[in-house]
Amino acid sequence: LAGHRLVVVSNRLPAVIRQDEDRWEVAPGSGGLVTALEPVVRANSGVWTGWPGCGGEAPVEALLDQFGERRGYRLIPVPLDGKDVDGFYHGFSNETLWPLFHDLLGHCQFRSSTWQDYQRVNSRFAEVMSRQVGDNDLVWVHDYQLILVGAELRRLGCRNNLGFFLHIPFPSPDLLRRLPWKEPLLRGLLEYNLIGFQTLRDRRNFVNSVNLLDDVQIIARKRYHTLLQYRDRVVRAGNFPISIDVADFERRARAKEVDEAAWFLHENLRGRQLILGIDRLDYTKGLQQRFLAFERALEICPEMRGRSSLLQIVVPSRTLVPEYQRHKELLDREVGRINSRFAESGWVPIHYQYRSLDSVQLLAHYRASEIALITPLRDGMNLVAKEYCACSIDNNGVLILSEFAGAADQMGTDALLVNPYDVDGTAEAICKAFHMPLEERQQRMRRLRQDLRRNDVHRWVGRFLQDLVAAGRVS
Ligand code: UDP
Ligand code: G6P
Repeated sequence: LAGHRLVVVSNRLPAVIRQDEDRWEVAPGSGGLVTALEPVVRANSGVWTGWPGCGGEAPVEALLDQFGERRGYRLIPVPLDGKDVDGFYHGFSNETLWPLFHDLLGHCQFRSSTWQDYQRVNSRFAEVMSRQVGDNDLVWVHDYQLILVGAELRRLGCRNNLGFFLHIPFPSPDLLRRLPWKEPLLRGLLEYNLIGFQTLRDRRNFVNSVNLLDDVQIIARKRYHTLLQYRDRVVRAGNFPISIDVADFERRARAKEVDEAAWFLHENLRGRQLILGIDRLDYTKGLQQRFLAFERALEICPEMRGRSSLLQIVVPSRTLVPEYQRHKELLDREVGRINSRFAESGWVPIHYQYRSLDSVQLLAHYRASEIALITPLRDGMNLVAKEYCACSIDNNGVLILSEFAGAADQMGTDALLVNPYDVDGTAEAICKAFHMPLEERQQRMRRLRQDLRRNDVHRWVGRFLQDLVAAGRVS
């Protein structure tokens, strides 16, 4: 980073503060954003600003200092009260932007009160952040919850280079048109010097959307970025597919305790192929369609009965948003129905666990599974797909991946790509994976892992920050 300190802001800090009876504790956060960004901030001894996930009664600063000292970077909290969390986080971020940006218009709520909350809380993040930022710092804002932070920082007089990265997809101009507040959001994005997207499609959707504004012109389209003229400034929009710390996952996957835990997992399911799904409980993850496809696979490929099980880990997420609560009920019913249809003594088709895994268990699950079934309806990238491959250290795993995950752009040749809406097609891919000869599995997985090693999270951050520095200071 050539002497620059990194100052990042995301809605969620990499640490979450919770109360366990009368004790406060600090635990690592979850989700793709945290997984990817943590090694980067750690290596730079940077600063991370965000919401600690709790109210004002906890000893937040002491707990975050303690967490940050162990990891070698600083954490700065942005406290949110109940109204902020309701309107900004549950409301506009997760009931409006999240479904809209994932092409799921039917799940969207459009409420002007939550839009007000979103603006107010973005401005609060910017105020906290502006107190941390020095002249030479690189400022990097993350994800859909904080789109307006850049514009607010400018309002407060910040003249640093500002970068923004969107971890989720960017919708087509036609879908974005439905959002009553699309123009202020697009103009907010244009306040950054560099705007990063996961895929070329996302970048194109953005460029085609801003191109409809009167005061934006496209100056140049390059392989990895587009240059835009916005009023008196040049803005860059690029595609930077996020990744993971591959070497670290590979090393940890070889640890003795992971090896033992993986052996133990498989011993419980002796003689069976394990098909793994790991997702936050989210309607974008395609879990209902996945269960239907597995059910269909058991119909068209009866030899899988008794000889394979789907192990689905569902990590609790956004539990106070009603759409998520309804979705959980639906999944519980679906699993119950399929299990009661097919279960035999000594065999249950779907093992469904609603919980999060610690790091040893997570890696053990990756190592123990013959097949990963990752079928989101839409996903910015999907890091679970990449982690699964990094941990398949014997190269024996088969990856079945949705064509609508950003990861499909890089992994599509050697994964079995499926359309999650096509239940029959996905079922056929499951059968194909079940029967795939070892030699073919290994060839595919070796190539997937070679490519992943070349394109790890360090390359992602290097490319983004190099472009941010090149984007130049605001004059
Ligand atoms: N993960 C986690 N706890 C768990 C299971 C998974 O922190 O119990 C991590 C997983 O390792 C991955 C991230 O959560 O890094 C999920 O990222 P992904 O991009 O697949 O989806 P997202 O949750 O960001 O939509
Ligand atoms: C996705 C989003 C992140 C978010 C994470 C977990 O990865 O891109 O911004 O932090 O999901 O969701 P949560 O609402 O718990 O922060």
